[in-house]
Amino acid sequence: MKHFIIIALLVIASTLAIHAGLNSIGLLPVLASAQGVSIDQLFGIYMWAIAFVFSLIMVTMLYSLFVFRRKKGETGEGTHFEGNNNLEVAWTAIPLIAVLYLAFLGARSLSETRRIDPSAMVVKVVAEQWSWQFQYPDYLFSSKDLYLPVGKQIDLQMTSLDVIHSFYVPEFRLKQDILPGRSVDLRITPTRLGHYTLTCAQLCGAHHADMVANVVVVSQADFLAWTQKEIASAPKDPVLIGQQLASLYGCAVCHSVDGSKKVGPTWLHLYSSSVPLSDGTKVNADATYLTNSIKNPNLQIVAGFSPNVMPDTFAQALTDTQIQNLIAYIESLK
Ligand code: CUA
Repeated sequence: MKHFIIIALLVIASTLAIHAGLNSIGLLPVLASAQGVSIDQLFGIYMWAIAFVFSLIMVTMLYSLFVFRRKKGETGEGTHFEGNNNLEVAWTAIPLIAVLYLAFLGARSLSETRRIDPSAMVVKVVAEQWSWQFQYPDYLFSSKDLYLPVGKQIDLQMTSLDVIHSFYVPEFRLKQDILPGRSVDLRITPTRLGHYTLTCAQLCGAHHADMVANVVVVSQADFLAWTQKEIASAPKDPVLIGQQLASLYGCAVCHSVDGSKKVGPTWLHLYSSSVPLSDGTKVNADATYLTNSIKNPNLQIVAGFSPNVMPDTFAQALTDTQIQNLIAYIESLK
């Protein structure tokens, strides 16, 4: 009995010391979202559990090694015993209850971070190798920086134009993978003004490490002022908007505007020309054909460009107005 009491006291002392040590390292950056509160609570519980389980095992092992070691002159065998039903029931039941309790806490935290506020502001996030773009449908413009008003739930509707990326701002705690050809939601309510950094958290190619963006949390008034400034400085000419979109969405990577052949057909002199297709027919490159080619690139494949390699994600990623702007840009190159 004396040994049990000493071990218990040592375990308590070691747990307190290890917990204090873990806390002093500062494992988490400052918390800046409402959804992070329950995650930090979970972290707090795990820190205690880690400190306790580590102490329990190490203290018991080291105590037994030193106190029950073979004394000088001892030559006999230790006492043999086999099986202990009470012990076995205890070490099955206690971890089972602990794991079920942690699962309950995890599920509760998950449902809290997913809570939907119907008045949330939508921001569309477009990820591609290797940049981020944020569209504000309520204000009809897009930005390279993610500006967010403090205290309002943001519904991030995210899509990727190529491979899997992942949205991660450590101060917001939540992380969400972004899949091509699909829109995934992440809800964040910023609670703290400041500048943060969005990093891509899914290895996505050579410049994965450079795939960062500024996140700026501002007051409601500053947010409105920023949107007015962005709207005022956004180009009004559809051709200019189309040109911006072509670079933003990577069209220019595969389609040249000087007649040279890249991955896809050039856009120079394309509009209202007669385009030979891979099935032997010809089609007039009017707005209808170009719209179809952007939305359903697999349907009409230009001769010499089969099999098609253009992603079919643009019908989702682009609005109809954006497609019209792109076509206005293509028309300006005719
Ligand atoms: Cu995108 Cu890593």
